Amino acid sequence: MYRLIRPVLFRFSAERVHHWTMQALRCVPYIPFAKCILRKLFSINDPSLSREVFGLKFKNPIGLAAGFDKNGEVVNELACFGFGFIEIGSVTPFPQPGNPRPRVFRLPKDRALINRMGINNAGAKQVMKNLRTRKHKIIVGGNISKNSATPNTAAAADYERALINLYDSVDYFALNISCPNVKELGCLQEVESLRIILEAVTDQRKYHDKYKPVLLKLSPDLNAAQLEDVLALVFEYALDGLIVANTTTKREDLRSPDEEVQNIGSGGLSGAPLFQNTVDLVRYISTITKKQLPIIGVGGVFSEEDALQLLDAGASLVQVYTGFIYNGPGFVKRILKKLVNKNTVGSIKNT
Ligand SMILES: Cc1cc2nc3c(=O)[nH]c(=O)nc-3n(C[C@H](O)[C@H](O)[C@H](O)COP(=O)(O)O)c2cc1C
Repeated sequence: MYRLIRPVLFRFSAERVHHWTMQALRCVPYIPFAKCILRKLFSINDPSLSREVFGLKFKNPIGLAAGFDKNGEVVNELACFGFGFIEIGSVTPFPQPGNPRPRVFRLPKDRALINRMGINNAGAKQVMKNLRTRKHKIIVGGNISKNSATPNTAAAADYERALINLYDSVDYFALNISCPNVKELGCLQEVESLRIILEAVTDQRKYHDKYKPVLLKLSPDLNAAQLEDVLALVFEYALDGLIVANTTTKREDLRSPDEEVQNIGSGGLSGAPLFQNTVDLVRYISTITKKQLPIIGVGGVFSEEDALQLLDAGASLVQVYTGFIYNGPGFVKRILKKLVNKNTVGSIKNT
């Protein structure tokens, strides 16, 4: 069905279609039985799919990656599409508009997107209010970042402020230090900058009664030396896991014509071209950390086989974004059907 609708949707700009989708999801609570019907059509509940990772119980290992529901507005509705968890954000302490439009582009020949949204969001206080309507027991992650106007030297205070505002509203935190669309955000992956952020965030967490896991979301573009430095800090500050990985600034081995790609300009590439690198990176990190660090694998998952491959490579959980856009609302259920009764263990810590 979605295969028939997709060519029509793809005639409009990606951001416009996303806007319509969000509007439609906002209407769901007002339509009698809509949630019930969506759940029947698009989700599976099977005890063999559940797993416990970094102390949280997930009903299944397939989540929605950050960037789709930036403001935590439709978590209850998205939960009907089979996801085991939903990561909202990135959320910054104060609202910001992001970059000028157009800022999301499709590369259909590559089953990919390029976006330079620039972390547009309503700010942590508004997101906290939005999440008050959260009804489902589904796990919600809060992906947090700094405001674009905040210099890197003051970034730690932004992460701390966003964490404080969202602390009681989400189940885990993801620190986005790797978005390629915010000037110099990637520099926060350098040891000294990252140390200050991790110090501030883990220290702030001590003031709260309930322990909330904190994960770090990495760039897929780190070299081996940078990755080694980051992992050393992750262990030093006893972070609860990694999200591997964000969008890439690379444009390698694309099928789309060079001219088309160049005309789009800067931004983070997501979708199918990322997949092999995601698997390799997850396997590498899982091996060098001796499976002691839970990993959420994300980047280019387009099929049930892809999800299985990531879990086999060492991911404890998997997230999708671009694959969901290209495959439609039945995508998660298709993956879950394949996972039922498959013993995919992933990392062993906290499981
Ligand atoms: C339009 C768009 C917006 C995104 N916004 C964010 C964001 O705000 N924060 C973040 O950490 N990742 C963001 N991402 C990255 C995704 O969470 C994910 O890491 C990446 O797209 C790779 O997964 P995929 O190939 O399944 O899309 C965004 C991705 C897209 C396509």
